[in-house]
Amino acid sequence: MTSPVRVIVVGAGCRGEIYAQFASIHPKRMKVVAVADPRKFARTKLQQQHKIEDNNVFEEWQSIVEREKFADAVLICTPDRIHKVCQLCVYLFGIYLCRLWPTFTTAEECTAIVEACTQAGVMLSVGHVLRYDPLIHMIKELIDAGAIGDVIHIQHLEPVGFYHFAHSFVRGSWRNEAESSFALLAKSCHDIDLIHHWAGARKCLKVSSFGSVSHFRKEYKPTGAGDRCLDCSVERTCPYSASKIYVDRVKQGHTGWPVSVICPNSLPDIESVTEALRTGPYGRCVYECDNDVCSNQVVNMEFEGGLTAAFSMVAFTEEICQRKTTIYGSRGELSYNGHEIRVFDFLTQRSTKHTASSEALKHYGMGGHGGADYHLINAFISAVANNDPSMIRSGPRETLVSHLLVFEAERSRVEGRVVHCGDVARS
Ligand SMILES: NC(=O)c1ccc[n+]([C@@H]2O[C@H](COP(=O)([O-])OP(=O)(O)OC[C@H]3O[C@@H](n4cnc5c(N)ncnc54)[C@H](O)[C@@H]3O)[C@@H](O)[C@H]2O)c1
Repeated sequence: MTSPVRVIVVGAGCRGEIYAQFASIHPKRMKVVAVADPRKFARTKLQQQHKIEDNNVFEEWQSIVEREKFADAVLICTPDRIHKVCQLCVYLFGIYLCRLWPTFTTAEECTAIVEACTQAGVMLSVGHVLRYDPLIHMIKELIDAGAIGDVIHIQHLEPVGFYHFAHSFVRGSWRNEAESSFALLAKSCHDIDLIHHWAGARKCLKVSSFGSVSHFRKEYKPTGAGDRCLDCSVERTCPYSASKIYVDRVKQGHTGWPVSVICPNSLPDIESVTEALRTGPYGRCVYECDNDVCSNQVVNMEFEGGLTAAFSMVAFTEEICQRKTTIYGSRGELSYNGHEIRVFDFLTQRSTKHTASSEALKHYGMGGHGGADYHLINAFISAVANNDPSMIRSGPRETLVSHLLVFEAERSRVEGRVVHCGDVARS
């Protein structure tokens, strides 16, 4: 393809705007030709940023399928529960799509969409951003090169971050399973996917999981606390105070995430943020929300050949999403702290440090997820332009298997038993 890949953005919120930026960085490779979003503020903003023609701006994604095909790819960046219908639309439309959050809320939906895409020859890239992080990708390359021998045990931690969890999973869009999905799927499907990826060809045989909603419950509400932080007499002593998380940031001039999320119909400033906290979901006391998703969860896995893995997700951390991993092999130990990889070789008893090359780290200012957002969309656009799905690291088949593992782990937590893999797909 010599002309830019023509892209439709469905859902012009946080993710949609970020991924559309690629067109501004590389206008010869990608052009945003249409947008669909029920929020006027969001779709108009994207329209202006990308000079989209008026007749290609839609309130509903359904209107797109009524038109002749006029694009090469779709970026689906809608809330979790709307993905399914979008997928079907895109399937019928018969074009490439990049779905930014690997969340179908049931195993059956995941299986059905992968089958549908495969049969229709639709190229599907799922938003497993971590697969595109240069250092995390290097972990897989080191394993495959035999740097630590046979992989014996994987230990992986996802620290969500105390205020990130309060923002997204107590007050925000992913707080309630019925409205979005359970936490392991919404937040940690990327991590289970990585563990599965690092395990290589070995199938997971058994999973067990425990987890609960800790602390963010009514019984932990401090005496004298109000229902909204702006009216709360003990707000100053609360680490989860919305005034601290949002108002203090605006006062310091920070209007990006998470502040940008809380004013859906205007740019964030001190007035709009204060109003949002007075009336909207983000001003609620964290002990008085309708949240029900786990704040801490562990998953244990046994793979073929005796390989074991232990995953932890925890809300109550200083680090925001900076994963930490140690992989124990028959000939060495690999550890990753988010900044570098260290490999200790049992034979030489020496360690080697690895960092990504400056070329691999280039992201032209599109720095979300440590630059991985840039690499995800870069790979997808290249795959579409060259009609080569092998450029996509997060394709449908492997994603389906790791998604099913997530459902199996959650079933183990809910039913309080070890789940033999294959149970979810069979039931
Ligand atoms: N892969 C990742 O790392 C990652 C990170 C964060 C979020 N996500 C996922 O990406 C998706 C979008 O998240 P976000 O943070 O951008 O959310 P957001 O709420 O900022 O944006 C969603 C947008 O979709 C719009 N929308 C709602 N219904 C729609 C419809 N029927 N048709 C078209 N647009 C519609 C909303 O108005 C909103 O502008 C979610 O599923 C989320 O789980 C993925």
